[in-house]
Amino acid sequence: MSAETIPLAKPVLGEEEERAAVEVLRSGQLSLGPRLAQFERAFAARLGAPFASAVSSGTAGLHLALRAAGVQDGDEVITSPFSFVASANAAVFERARPVFADIDPRTLNLDPQAAAAAVSARTRALLPVHIFGYPADMDAFEALAARHGLGIVEDACEALGARHGDGREVGARGNPAVFGFYANKQLTTGEGGIVALADGAMKERIDSERNQGRSPDMGWLDHDRLGFNYRLSEIACALGIAQLERLEKMLADRARVAELYREALAGVEGLRLPCPDRGGDRRGWFVFVVQLPPGAERDAVIRELAARGVQSKPYLPAIHLMSFYRERFGHRPGEFPVCEEIAARSLALPFFPGLSEDQVARVAAALLDALGR
Ligand SMILES: Cc1ncc(COP(=O)(O)O)c(C=O)c1O
Repeated sequence: MSAETIPLAKPVLGEEEERAAVEVLRSGQLSLGPRLAQFERAFAARLGAPFASAVSSGTAGLHLALRAAGVQDGDEVITSPFSFVASANAAVFERARPVFADIDPRTLNLDPQAAAAAVSARTRALLPVHIFGYPADMDAFEALAARHGLGIVEDACEALGARHGDGREVGARGNPAVFGFYANKQLTTGEGGIVALADGAMKERIDSERNQGRSPDMGWLDHDRLGFNYRLSEIACALGIAQLERLEKMLADRARVAELYREALAGVEGLRLPCPDRGGDRRGWFVFVVQLPPGAERDAVIRELAARGVQSKPYLPAIHLMSFYRERFGHRPGEFPVCEEIAARSLALPFFPGLSEDQVARVAAALLDALGR
């Protein structure tokens, strides 16, 4: 009886990607070839940012961007507890402390006032996250950073296609802004990431540190600083170039699916849908995450959906309550009540460009049943 299971995510890949990958294989140059700069230039142009540095993952991009912002041992980085764990981990890589502050209940992004209250003499940088593709309040964070002389790194890993109220694309404000290209993202290279930025010296540093600390103009054996292997392969860059060409269509398809969900789930009492755009801000659709009605048993809902062939996932858990963060930094429940309440109720539904109207209807019907509506 059962129709095919509806997965949480599914990349759009076609002949262009296939051709691009095969071309790289035939060229024999699998890394540090011409597609790297070509992908970087095309991505920066799409955003309206002066530069971009492609790296092996969003996590690698966050790490190098925080280093470039001067974050060091003993510093504090103010960030959101309602994010994928990598945004906080990137600070820990440099022996800095991620200092969490609570989130805005509408946007689910770091609350600028809470962030301001968390500033201390050790604060070195702000790391706002554009969670679920909704633009963070960068005007407020930039003002806060200017007041205290702080750096900013934007985690835009989920936010390709998002736009601020002033018309600028998320990631094009000049702060280093990191995008991720894992397979569930708006644009995928399998694994991969990129740092969009405006400072040429910062780009040079990131380009060097992703490549073992080599200067752009020197021979193989001289390395003038500590570096990593965070390179993005030529095949990945070729996929990225091909994906960029279909990006506008993929973004429009995601927005269409979101609209279908909105219609199908409107009026379900207690069920909270992703906040609509406001003040000219535009979400870059990444996931469709709902907050279940208070009292709903989320694990039971997930099981019920699975029994009906619908994948779903509790997304996101609060970072400060993860065991590593509790043990390392002594966090406990109750510190960030808005985040904790949202994290306890959040459920990601299947969401990708090719999701059909029928499939959305199936998900919605299964969810309503699971909620006893
Ligand atoms: C908000 C956020 N930050 C960081 C990352 C890390 O990106 P990656 O998985 O490419 O390392 C992700 C991606 O999963 C993310 O969603």
